[in-house]
Amino acid sequence: MAFSFDRQDLIKSQNFIAGRWQDAVSGQVFPVLDPADMTEITRVPDSGAADAQSAVEAARAALPAWRATPAKARAAIIKRWNALILENKEELGKLVSYEQGKPLAEGIGEIVYAASYVEWFGDEAARITGEVIESPVAGRKMFAVREPVGVVAVITPWNFPAAMIARKIAPALAAGCTVVGKPAEDTPLTSLALAKLAAEAGVPEGVLNLVCASREQTPEVVDVWLDSPQVRKVSFTGSTPVGKHLARRSADTLKKLSLELGGNAPFVVFDDADLDAAVDGLMAAKFRNGGQTCVCPNRVYVQSGVFDEFAAKLTERVAALKVGPATEEGVMIGPMINERAVDKILNHINDAVVHGAKVLTGGRRVREELGPNYIAPTVLANVSNQAVLCCEETFGPVAPLFSFETEAQVIAAANDTPFGLAGYFYSENVSRIWRVADALETGIVGINEGAVASEAAPFGGVKESGYGREGSIHGLEDFMQIKYLCQGNLK
Ligand code: SIN
Repeated sequence: MAFSFDRQDLIKSQNFIAGRWQDAVSGQVFPVLDPADMTEITRVPDSGAADAQSAVEAARAALPAWRATPAKARAAIIKRWNALILENKEELGKLVSYEQGKPLAEGIGEIVYAASYVEWFGDEAARITGEVIESPVAGRKMFAVREPVGVVAVITPWNFPAAMIARKIAPALAAGCTVVGKPAEDTPLTSLALAKLAAEAGVPEGVLNLVCASREQTPEVVDVWLDSPQVRKVSFTGSTPVGKHLARRSADTLKKLSLELGGNAPFVVFDDADLDAAVDGLMAAKFRNGGQTCVCPNRVYVQSGVFDEFAAKLTERVAALKVGPATEEGVMIGPMINERAVDKILNHINDAVVHGAKVLTGGRRVREELGPNYIAPTVLANVSNQAVLCCEETFGPVAPLFSFETEAQVIAAANDTPFGLAGYFYSENVSRIWRVADALETGIVGINEGAVASEAAPFGGVKESGYGREGSIHGLEDFMQIKYLCQGNLK
């Protein structure tokens, strides 16, 4: 085992349904692999329709009592869960790094990040309110109250195995919903450990249910939830094609949806920017989690007057990033999640080169003696807007630099994409700052800032990056519905 764990009991390899750890009804399993060397960590259930259905039944049975639990009592349980997550942050961080590959400091950082959402929604649970509406008619009292949407299905990606599920489950529980969830097939272990801690914190049986499934079996599990009239909401983070499929399939039962989908973030450096701050911002935004982040810049536009200086500063920093397994001292870029991901990144680089790009650093696999999943962080210059990485998310440690002349030109280029999750720009000109912030067609804008995510902020996209928000009061609102009460005949 690449990591040693003090709390072996946190490493679970079964589904968690109705408060019990269970194998798949079929008895089938699939392996969870360490991306550092593709060795097997453990096997987890390869679930099917029967498992998905029993999760729904457990969540449905638990719903009346959980939604009737006073918000303050729900909040206390969620805050205990937060405390347990933080108490076990090293163990959980190791698990994140083990199954996902990110360097250990980032693994532990992700746990703290995940816990920040749990704490936030624990606090928000007790603040749910409604409205008293002034009646236009005599003899009536009118109210709008918020109630939980009901059973929700959460489907999460592999890039942040703790944070993505925490920021869906915590607001769901805060709102009084019960949950059925499917963690990503590559990284189910962190979610299962979080479920164990949730149970220790006092989350009642059936309120949180997790079902594992391989890539092949996932449609069978998810289809049960999509078809179920009991499941009233789906919250999904992942690709835009899958998000569109979920939206289509949810139409028959008109479920509420939160879809946090693909991005293609522009990062713009104007010639009036603080260049060192812009390089710092790009390093933080682009190379966090090895570039496997929906909000990470996919296209870097640098104004021609500062292009060479910016490219030189950036290349020096990127070339110094150490690549290796999460366990190795000083590593900043871990393995990519699998070989397929590295092949896609290399295809993007090669295609950019065919279209005239110059490789300033990186551009190839490294440390192949360890396994096929390591890639040198890469900077490309003179990238053409015909290159495929201009329109497709690369999801890897590649910074392609495009040169531009005018503000109008770069805004048109930045918005020339169906996606609209995050956008970033650096400028010291206050009028330009407001102009560009208004003009960018994205749900999130980093202005002279590369690290934008926060539990207190609404995270989500526009256009084909989806809808719904995670974090902030809006992230709780998405798990509630409004009921209007009208009491008449008052004497
Ligand atoms: C994501 O990649 O979808 C989430 C990134 C974040 O929370 O910053």
